[in-house]
Amino acid sequence: MNESPRRILVTSALPYANGSIHLGHLVEYIQTDIWVRFQKMRGHACYYVCADDAHGTPIMLRAQAEGLSPEDLIARVGEEHRADFRDFQVGFDHYHSTHSDENRELATRIYRALQAGGHIKTRTITQAYDPEKEMFLPDRFIKGECPRCGAADQYGDSCEACGATYAPTDLKNPRSAISGATPVERDSEHYFFQLGDFADMLKKWTRAGHLQPEVANKLGEWFQDGLRDWDISRDAPYFGFEIPDAPGKYFYVWLDAPIGYMASFKALCDKTGLDFEGFWGRDSDAELYHFIGKDIIYFHALFWPAMLEGAGFRTPSAIFAHGFLTVNGQKMSKSRGTFIKARTYLDHLNPEYLRYYFAAKLSGGVDDLDLSLEDFSQRVNADLVGKVVNIASRCAGFIGKLSDGKLAAELPDPDLQDTFARCASEIAGLYEKREFGHAMREIMALADRANQYIDEQKPWVLAKQEGQEQRVQAICTQGLNLFRVLMVYLKPVLPAMAEQVEAFLQIEPLTWNSVSTPLLGQTIAPFKPLMTRIDPAAIEAMTAASREDLAVTAEPAAETAAGPPRDPIADSIGIEDFAKLDLRIARILKAGAVEGADKLLQLTLDIGGGETRNVFAGIKQAYAPTDLEGKLTVMVANLAPRKMKFGISEGMVLAAGPGGDQLWVLHPDEGAQPGMRVK
Ligand code: MSP
Ligand code: ZN
Repeated sequence: MNESPRRILVTSALPYANGSIHLGHLVEYIQTDIWVRFQKMRGHACYYVCADDAHGTPIMLRAQAEGLSPEDLIARVGEEHRADFRDFQVGFDHYHSTHSDENRELATRIYRALQAGGHIKTRTITQAYDPEKEMFLPDRFIKGECPRCGAADQYGDSCEACGATYAPTDLKNPRSAISGATPVERDSEHYFFQLGDFADMLKKWTRAGHLQPEVANKLGEWFQDGLRDWDISRDAPYFGFEIPDAPGKYFYVWLDAPIGYMASFKALCDKTGLDFEGFWGRDSDAELYHFIGKDIIYFHALFWPAMLEGAGFRTPSAIFAHGFLTVNGQKMSKSRGTFIKARTYLDHLNPEYLRYYFAAKLSGGVDDLDLSLEDFSQRVNADLVGKVVNIASRCAGFIGKLSDGKLAAELPDPDLQDTFARCASEIAGLYEKREFGHAMREIMALADRANQYIDEQKPWVLAKQEGQEQRVQAICTQGLNLFRVLMVYLKPVLPAMAEQVEAFLQIEPLTWNSVSTPLLGQTIAPFKPLMTRIDPAAIEAMTAASREDLAVTAEPAAETAAGPPRDPIADSIGIEDFAKLDLRIARILKAGAVEGADKLLQLTLDIGGGETRNVFAGIKQAYAPTDLEGKLTVMVANLAPRKMKFGISEGMVLAAGPGGDQLWVLHPDEGAQPGMRVK
């Protein structure tokens, strides 16, 4: 060990407790886990904690929709999350929940300290209120007609059809997405954290090397816009912690979420005897790192350090933001089968393939990264199976057969071994800076070098010659020692494979220092294949399983688990309701762009009996007009005509998908005729 042991506390962002872990999330948990495993291998006292983020309106409503208490919902989801992380080898030292006693105590302590410091003020604000459900409505739970183009069913902040952005109060005919009632405006007293009190501290802090340069620059822009007070309260009904001395008022989920990092660590301290204040106290000399996605920088780089400072705790040593995952070059999409849940992946593929692929793609910056499924197979097969595992499988058999599993007592080429071992500090430097992609390239260059050595020495030729047993044993001992160094370097990424290798070589768990002493003269176990190639059929099966049935819906389905959940009772309709719908086969006679509308196509539909209809459909990003002309589709023919900025829309075409460029118009099979009714 070249450095004295450090005390390091590491966190990943807390996943919401109302949805499954997907491959996008895993970028973060795998990145963090690799870094933590690296630190532990170096002999540092490194602790990795996380928790479910269990509070907030979407979780409350999701529980109601499922007929569960929020506690039951978060318990169930918590179990799923833990199992997903465990099976991806994400090795938390503790995994907690923000709905816990530790978190309630710490949130109260921090709030009280901020209040005592004069950093909390109250103010009355006016908000949309659902009189039926008797609750205030967050923007995304209000729907109505776009004030600009008139498109129906738009969310409270922006229009999917024309791209306009507005306040929920601008919507025409607004409705609560929960009950369907017309929202009213209502006043309520809210609690605000005075972020501006910390402007000087934050300006210094964000420029003091705690942030990546591109993140610090982005924050510079936010400073210019001014630091606004932060609304930290929500009215009942809300699933969260009630604010002390403020009956009916709850902490906004984002107030107690980062405190969940502390709460999880507190629970670890209580379990193991670690010293909580030694890590979080103002003059702590421990290191504290938060790994997060680039979408939640504001919370972590402004609110969080200000809260800690105001409450008398230490601030983070650094915040490490990463970019977003795309699959095959596009946003993850349910209909394309690229919205892949952790569990669906695990049903078909080895988690270490993905750990390696993400490592190969990650850098210390905030760039997005793409999982191209084609490239994924090639990369894993070529690097891990074709290069790394190949070294061991080329050498192990001869040691087993020719020398009874015993390694030679000396290396034939100690210089080569030294060359490999000397890379330890460079590769460590890359891991430390989270330049994992660069580290993987260095490691694979060494793997090439090891294979080249074996190619030159040709043990398989010598093995057939009389009296060459010792020579073959020496060459293969060398090969296995080079392989062992590579496994040290890869162990943070491939912990399960490293464990198999430890069993095969019959050695104690590899640490970073293991590279300095070669393994000589000892007996090793028979070789078992360490990893097989990716079967293309497994990838196909995984995407097929991820492709959800396309819902026949005229409205874009919410792509994220956090979207407004639906009330199952309000959603079910009787047959007489269904009979009211006049769904008809139509032929698209003409399709064309609409001037001034980014998302609309104007369609002329033949609906049989000589009748045509003019319909504006929000499908421009998904279809070129010429791809539609002449095709059959299904339309709602008895929808009341709607006046839009561009003309009157006389019905609606059925399409499915999340929206934008991911929409699929429904087409009946050949043989259907315009005018036929759908039954
Ligand atoms: N609950 C908040 C975090 C609170 S931290 C005090 C949250 N949860 S989340 O479930 O939406 O996201 C958890 C983490 O996963 C975030 O850091 C987020 O950026 C990351 N990712 C979610 N989707 C992602 C991708 N598609 N790609 C990469 N990271 C992604 O935010
Ligand atoms: Zn609009």
